[in-house]
Amino acid sequence: MGSLINKENDVKEPKDAILYINGVLKLLPNGLAHLTLLEYLRDVGLTGTKLGCGEGGCGACTVMVSYFDHNSKKCVHQAINACLAPLYSVEGMHVLTAEGLGNRKFGLHPVQESLASRHGSQCGFCTPGFVMSMYALLRSTKTPPTEEQIEESLAGNLCRCTGYRPILDAFRVFAKSNDLLYTNGSVPSQEPKDGEFICPSTGKPCSCGPTQETINQADGSCKGYKAVSYNEIDGSSYTNKEIIFPPQLILRKTSYLSLNGFGGIKWIRPLLLKHVLDLKSRYPDAKLVVGNTELGIETRLKKIHYPVFVAVTHVPELNILTVNDDGVEIGAGVRITELRKFLKKVIEERSVYETSACKAIIEQIKWFAGTQIRNVASVGGNICTASPISDLNPLWMASRAKFRIVDCKGNVRDTLAEKFFLGYRKVDLGSNEILLSVFVPWTRKFEFVKEFKQAHRRDDDIALVNAGMRVYLEKHKQKWIVSDACIVYGGVGPVSLLAVKTNGCLVGKEWNKELLQNSLETLQRDVLMSDDAPGGMVEFRKSLTLSFFFKFFLWVSHQLNKMDGQDLFNESVPVSHLSAIESFHRPSVMGSQDYDVPKQGTAVGSPEVHMSARLQVTGEAEYTDDTPMGPAGLHAALILSKKPHARLLSINDSGARSSPGFAGIFFAKDIPGYNSTGPVVEDEEVFASEIVTCVGQVIGVVVADTHENAKLAARKVNVEYEVLPAILSIEDAVKAKSFHPNSYRALSKGDVDLCFKSDKCHKIIEGEVHIGGQEHFYLEPQSTFVWTMDGGNEVHMISSTQAPQKHQKYVAQVLGLPMSKVVCKVKRLGGGFGGKETRSDFFAAVAAVPAYILNRPVKLVLDRDIDMMVSGQRHSFFGKYKVGFTNEGKVLALDLEIYNNGGNSLDLSLPILERALYHSDNVYEIPHVRVNGSVCFTNYPSNTAFRGFGVPQGMLVTENWIQRIAMEVKKSPEEIRELNFISEGSILRYGQRVEDCTLQRLWDQLKKSCNFLKVRSEVDKFNLCNRWKKRGIAMIPTKFGISFNRKFMNQAGALVQVYTDGTVLVTHGGVEMGQGLRTKVAQIAASEFEIPLSSVFISETSTDKVPNASPTAASASSDMYGAAVLDACKQLKARMEPIATLKKHTSFEKLVNACYLERVDLSAHGFYIVPDIGFNWTTGKGHPFRYFTYGAAFAEVEIDTLTGDFHTRAADVILDLGFSINPAIDVGQIEGAFVQGMGWVALEELKWGDDAHKWVPPGCLFTCGPGNYKIPSVNDVPFKFKVSLLKDAPNDKAVHSSKAVGEPPFFLASSVFFAIKDAIIAARVESGSHGWFPLDNPATPERIRMACADDFTAPFSKPDFRPKLSV
Ligand SMILES: Cc1cc2nc3c(=O)[nH]c(=O)nc-3n(C[C@H](O)[C@H](O)[C@H](O)COP(=O)(O)OP(=O)(O)OC[C@H]3O[C@@H](n4cnc5c(N)ncnc54)[C@H](O)[C@@H]3O)c2cc1C
Ligand code: FES
Ligand code: FES
Repeated sequence: MGSLINKENDVKEPKDAILYINGVLKLLPNGLAHLTLLEYLRDVGLTGTKLGCGEGGCGACTVMVSYFDHNSKKCVHQAINACLAPLYSVEGMHVLTAEGLGNRKFGLHPVQESLASRHGSQCGFCTPGFVMSMYALLRSTKTPPTEEQIEESLAGNLCRCTGYRPILDAFRVFAKSNDLLYTNGSVPSQEPKDGEFICPSTGKPCSCGPTQETINQADGSCKGYKAVSYNEIDGSSYTNKEIIFPPQLILRKTSYLSLNGFGGIKWIRPLLLKHVLDLKSRYPDAKLVVGNTELGIETRLKKIHYPVFVAVTHVPELNILTVNDDGVEIGAGVRITELRKFLKKVIEERSVYETSACKAIIEQIKWFAGTQIRNVASVGGNICTASPISDLNPLWMASRAKFRIVDCKGNVRDTLAEKFFLGYRKVDLGSNEILLSVFVPWTRKFEFVKEFKQAHRRDDDIALVNAGMRVYLEKHKQKWIVSDACIVYGGVGPVSLLAVKTNGCLVGKEWNKELLQNSLETLQRDVLMSDDAPGGMVEFRKSLTLSFFFKFFLWVSHQLNKMDGQDLFNESVPVSHLSAIESFHRPSVMGSQDYDVPKQGTAVGSPEVHMSARLQVTGEAEYTDDTPMGPAGLHAALILSKKPHARLLSINDSGARSSPGFAGIFFAKDIPGYNSTGPVVEDEEVFASEIVTCVGQVIGVVVADTHENAKLAARKVNVEYEVLPAILSIEDAVKAKSFHPNSYRALSKGDVDLCFKSDKCHKIIEGEVHIGGQEHFYLEPQSTFVWTMDGGNEVHMISSTQAPQKHQKYVAQVLGLPMSKVVCKVKRLGGGFGGKETRSDFFAAVAAVPAYILNRPVKLVLDRDIDMMVSGQRHSFFGKYKVGFTNEGKVLALDLEIYNNGGNSLDLSLPILERALYHSDNVYEIPHVRVNGSVCFTNYPSNTAFRGFGVPQGMLVTENWIQRIAMEVKKSPEEIRELNFISEGSILRYGQRVEDCTLQRLWDQLKKSCNFLKVRSEVDKFNLCNRWKKRGIAMIPTKFGISFNRKFMNQAGALVQVYTDGTVLVTHGGVEMGQGLRTKVAQIAASEFEIPLSSVFISETSTDKVPNASPTAASASSDMYGAAVLDACKQLKARMEPIATLKKHTSFEKLVNACYLERVDLSAHGFYIVPDIGFNWTTGKGHPFRYFTYGAAFAEVEIDTLTGDFHTRAADVILDLGFSINPAIDVGQIEGAFVQGMGWVALEELKWGDDAHKWVPPGCLFTCGPGNYKIPSVNDVPFKFKVSLLKDAPNDKAVHSSKAVGEPPFFLASSVFFAIKDAIIAARVESGSHGWFPLDNPATPERIRMACADDFTAPFSKPDFRPKLSV
């Protein structure tokens, strides 16, 4: 015991709290301790920094924070998440946002320029975050970063649109990949091939595609990318456009702070340990805070109130990093990034054997959150939270670390890490104590420490199970004996679990196979989990504990071999088992795109940059929540049902009414107009009146002066329920015949029963396919802003919606107003993907009620968890098939039943089911077919449109039985696919004739491009040589019908206005959500008038300009609005024609002026209807689609059969898009759809409170945020990602011979799913399982691992075990 208290007790007078933002000094007033940096930035008008999730999981809020480190005398620059940073935590620092880098008026920063010009921004909502992450990386490294560093630095930034490849390409130009270029500026070691250019920015053959001419112009570097300079003073990189670090901050001394916030919150920042201890004795419940990455989640998401925060970031004793004789000492306040840097240095300086624990910590940190979190999160915060899935705690415990604890009186005590964790989030720390530091002893010779972690997603994800393992071996009589051991697991209990029995059984034993076997058996007695343990996946988690130990055994044996020179390893296990311990290394992504540019006129066919890209990269682009509201504005929060099915007995809102900032509360009874909505049938109440039918159903709305106050008031509303029985799965619904009325649909052809009975059918298979849902995860949450004008006579709104006309209609309906008095405008969406086609309308209707009644502007922006909980998702599906086929694999008959989970209202579930039925043949000729289905009514929020609209689910069922036929007839699935292809003239089951079919062409081209046969044999060879890693490949075709299901929706309007300066303003009914619709439409107008693209502008979509527009959906908008705009342009040209023929004008401007003087009407309304379509469900026959978009994809994956981890080694995608209007945008759509599809098939799993997930309250969504719902991140992109557009294939059925692109490529990602299955088949063969087995969608690590049934899964599950899935 020692004492740290000294007599000094001075607390200097606090100075003014300050902050620099983008170079401008701001005084921070007292009273803002409750605010995050993000809230503050947005309040002061810097709306370039976006709120995507509020929980550190998406990176949309990334800013760069710089401070002067007085110890190193250097500026430190770091990317952080502004949404989790308390405002006062950045006091005395410089915050740089996207607005501070560059803007359109004064020029873009090279990072912004590169991202914009390389098509790295689609909807743009994630874009400022990516810019800031990249920028912070550049400024924090003295020399250009490597490509690997760039990819790592972006792991904490999510993008739902681009598929990341263009972002990586845009940033790659800032990477250093060849030292030679930087050391002597001469040519690289590898000579470029003929015609190749080595870019000085990348040091590689240039992927930016410059010509010799552009190289010359740009002084040898790629056009558009200026080299970044490096500041000699503080080591930061900069260009002359950049804001420097404010010199005043270098001189300024950090001071003690004591500030307050709303709700009595105190924020105190002491500078000395003794002050921390004083404060702790004064406020025993005070929370020490460093990164706020735990506390932020607790206070914001879990709504826990802590009155006093003591920020210990500036306390020297808590920030020590020292190397001692016996180990390293790490201050509790040290951030994870610093720790990693420090340990890296330590292992360079110390003997190899001493740093086994340090290496394990470094390796584990690689998978610890994203850069932004690691930059602020502290070691002590992680330890004291005592999370059972902490990545570091098992390692501290395993490596004999000691924690140093100090109490308020300065008494110090040490405790072993393994004794510190007492229970769930409970540690051996009194209310008068704090954690001071961690001591990690050096490892001894032949002492080995290893880390393990398996998460849902490899990067930036919390562990499902992790582990820290240590063993100390000593040699006795030529035998290696375990002298000491410690095995610790995270994620298998309420606290990091010390495997006591196993540790006991290891010590004293010889390190050999017998020990392995005994330990695997003992571990099963150490790791005890009940079947309904929180988190679920019990069989998987238990299997992982054994897999990890097996890996550890192999790894230690291998290390011993290396050190001891003995052949112990080979003796114990074959070389093929080495695959179990090869650590994952990701090469940087290589993308290639192959397309023709058949230019038509000035712009059509050209790979133009997205029209808003430059606005988006600078943060200037405005989204709904960025619209200023004025002082009268109110914020809305929803009062939501907490029960899946219940009668509302009473509502007590008195608490809300007395809540701060309260302005109004509204329920069903307050609705001025009509309380029902729905796009197909009006079966959904805006506010539930008597019965609620799902958790998250809206019961009412509260408005208040701030968003936080509105939410606080909403939480104070007490609702009493009488709980009624709920239907929580498709299976329950089918059993109970709980279907939406009139939702049964059937299609048929031939005689299925007769065919099954005939001897032509050599084999018949039957099976079931379960397909999980998918969250849209558009980066911009649902948002709407409604206000009245003229005393409430008119209602206006700006919304994030794909369907402004529906907003107009619903709002008019709910308020009892004519539609002509309601206007909805949309500038852009931060992503939609179908999720803002109908569900967004609902929120506009809700917000309109208080706006109209109170005559005040109201903004409703959903928090991410609420959005995910209430706004519906991609439908889960259940399919039951019976298929008859020949011995060769020719399909003869299909009998199929499919059900989708509609949720509590019909919404678009019926057309989605219909589409699934239409497409459930994918590209196959089936002579006899009977398919039918119904929409299930369940007690979940209504499911809705999502890219593909039921088509991917329908096709996935098909590809499941195709793959099964292949196994039955012992051929490859690819052969079965090709054998059954439709061809020109085939008549589809609904009577439509196949025309201009490019399927075989695409397939043949893909086979060649991916070198299928060669890769097949390489994969087989790899699989033979590697027991625990397996590779798999698959080729998948697709055909997607283009047109809205309902004929009346296939119409489009546009307004084209030509101004006297020769510029053109286009307005049309379509909405820009990142897909490049406006750019393509503008290209069409520019080409038609033969003017440059820059002369055409599209500002917004507005219901008062173009009425009655169909939603922007079904991939058909470019076809429809392109044609409508073309129609308007042609009308205008016809009107100008007489003037043009009179005299040759030298410019369009002059011609327009001449027309104006001749009083020609220069405004035209264009209109288009899709011809030759229609369908009759009574006869089941018709021509529902204008044409089909065909495509095919190849994927190669590698799986770790012991953990279920996987990565995609290659993807090769080819689409027939006719003559593309904009190939760059189309490639972006394909890549984005493919990666989103990869999420659907392999990563994204929705977990609902149902029979399969009893640990979740009934009807609630567990996966309601980026914390536990994982969309693909930058590191999930295929290593090699090739996209090609079929050449020379014009489509005469759409504008400028193009084809629709948005949805068709999505399903092609199932090539990844079937490649995974192919790899699993190889793994199962090794364990003697040769038959077919089901694999449900998504193929998450859990499903992959459990399907690779082996000795480690055997104790917990049978080989046919099917992990639980919410459907
Ligand atoms: C998006 C995201 C991803 C994450 N990923 C991971 C991951 O991959 N692996 C992982 O293990 N964790 C992860 N976490 C959890 C979290 O980041 C870590 O636990 C982090 O280390 C906490 O540090 P902090 O400084 O932010 O803690 P804070 O939130 O500041 O504090 C956390 C708790 O520790 C207490 N505390 C802090 N210092 C002391 C001290 N010296 N003495 C006593 N009590 C103290 C605080 O009072 C508080 O109760 C993630 C969190 C987020 C938000
Ligand atoms: S909004 Fe901050 S990380 Fe998502
Ligand atoms: S561009 Fe990245 S989320 Fe839309």
